[in-house]
Amino acid sequence: MKKKILFVCLGNICRSPMAETIMQAMAKEAGREAEFELDSAGLIAYHEGEEADPRMRQHAARHGYRITHLSRPIRESDFRYFDLILGMDDSNIDRLKRLAPDLETEAKVQRMTDYCCQRMEDHVPDPYYGGASGFEHVISLLEDACRGLLENLKADD
Ligand code: 4NP
Repeated sequence: MKKKILFVCLGNICRSPMAETIMQAMAKEAGREAEFELDSAGLIAYHEGEEADPRMRQHAARHGYRITHLSRPIRESDFRYFDLILGMDDSNIDRLKRLAPDLETEAKVQRMTDYCCQRMEDHVPDPYYGGASGFEHVISLLEDACRGLLENLKADD
């Protein structure tokens, strides 16, 4: 059965669509695309229907990634549908846990950086109000976390 993973950030226009895109690319590269169903969502609906932030898309392209996701807010059914719900920072995780309809679904909420294999960081910082280095930092942290996630899920099987 496919492992269903939902990446979540605040606006679903920077970090979580980037995470989804990197994970998709790494799974494909590893010949493991068929093992996963991936999506991303935001905690706010403010950017619903929009493409990812143009700055995020530009930095992604520099690293060979193309983000096609359109922003959408998380919905209650996501908590039942997905096996793993990965938040990017403390605020995301607190809000996700409060939104989870019950204890079983709350347990699906985890921290993206817990899967990092080389970096020792405890959150993926919001790049929205910052400069270019923030977007680059998001990409390198998410690459590390997705590498760890792929390894971890292999080990689980
Ligand atoms: P994201 O970044 O959560 O990584 O998508 C943000 C996008 C939009 C806003 C904040 C953060 N905003 O306030 O609209």
